Amino acid sequence: MVALNSAQSAAEGSTLRVDGVSKAFRGADGVSTRTFALDNVSLSVAAGELISIVGPSGCGKSTLLRLIAGLDSPNSGELRVGSEVITAPNAERGLVFQDPNLFPWLTVRRNIEIGLVARGLLREKRHEVDEFMRLVGLEAFANAFPHHLSGGMAQRVALARALINHPKLLLLDEPLGALDAFTRMRMQDEVLRLWRARQTTMVLVTHDIDEAIYMSDRIVIMSPRPGRIERVIVVELDRPRHRNSPEFLNLRGEILELLHFAGAATA
Ligand SMILES: Nc1ncnc2c1ncn2[C@@H]1O[C@H](COP(=O)(O)OP(=O)(O)OP(=O)(O)O)[C@@H](O)[C@H]1O
Ligand SMILES: [Mg+2]
Repeated sequence: MVALNSAQSAAEGSTLRVDGVSKAFRGADGVSTRTFALDNVSLSVAAGELISIVGPSGCGKSTLLRLIAGLDSPNSGELRVGSEVITAPNAERGLVFQDPNLFPWLTVRRNIEIGLVARGLLREKRHEVDEFMRLVGLEAFANAFPHHLSGGMAQRVALARALINHPKLLLLDEPLGALDAFTRMRMQDEVLRLWRARQTTMVLVTHDIDEAIYMSDRIVIMSPRPGRIERVIVVELDRPRHRNSPEFLNLRGEILELLHFAGAATA
């Protein structure tokens, strides 16, 4: 009998639909003028697609990710994963932030299996912990503690911890933002490899234009105050992509110009 290797087997990604979503926050005193973090944002993501969201600080990228995660609700509009309206967080929607947020008193293995423990699934799925540690290349560090890990390794633990729940949608908020440039480029390949192996739908927030072009099927460019989608760019370059190819550099120039324009228009 062939044992099913669940870490390598294709998990089906979900579609995502964001429909006319607006989100406003009150001023710091709780009553004064409202900030429209998102204003009538609509977006469709296909199953297994990898999209990036870029835009200046404060344009609502994290707010949008929090709404998709179900950590907050919109003032108007609707969000759906598959045919389900998003109303609360769900293990099928994984989240990885810039800070890996590992528990310092737990080993790599314990950090990765924590979601299974919380859902009472550890006994049934214990074998998957080893598979996911292998998938992110950390099997030799199973018993290491977070303070023994480099930034890139810690972020791989955070990715494995999210992936072990077999998310149909993985939400990444600047997950590589704290890494040095070389580690960051290596981790981009790592995330792409995981994306291909799992076929998970991914939404990646990044400030790094090269990262967005290198990784995504489409790039969503947002503008701030109020947070809106300025443009959606389809990246038609074949993978693996070459950061120095003329097509890559052209697209980079186009996006930088667009972001500058977006910033100037709202100043
Ligand atoms: N809980 C909150 N209460 C009040 N205002 C908020 C809250 N969360 C976000 N905002 C405001 O909403 C706007 C969008 O914030 P958000 O964190 O989504 O931006 P961002 O695009 O992720 O920025 P960055 O690139 O700096 O992470 C900002 O003006 C921010 O001050
Ligand atoms: Mg943010």
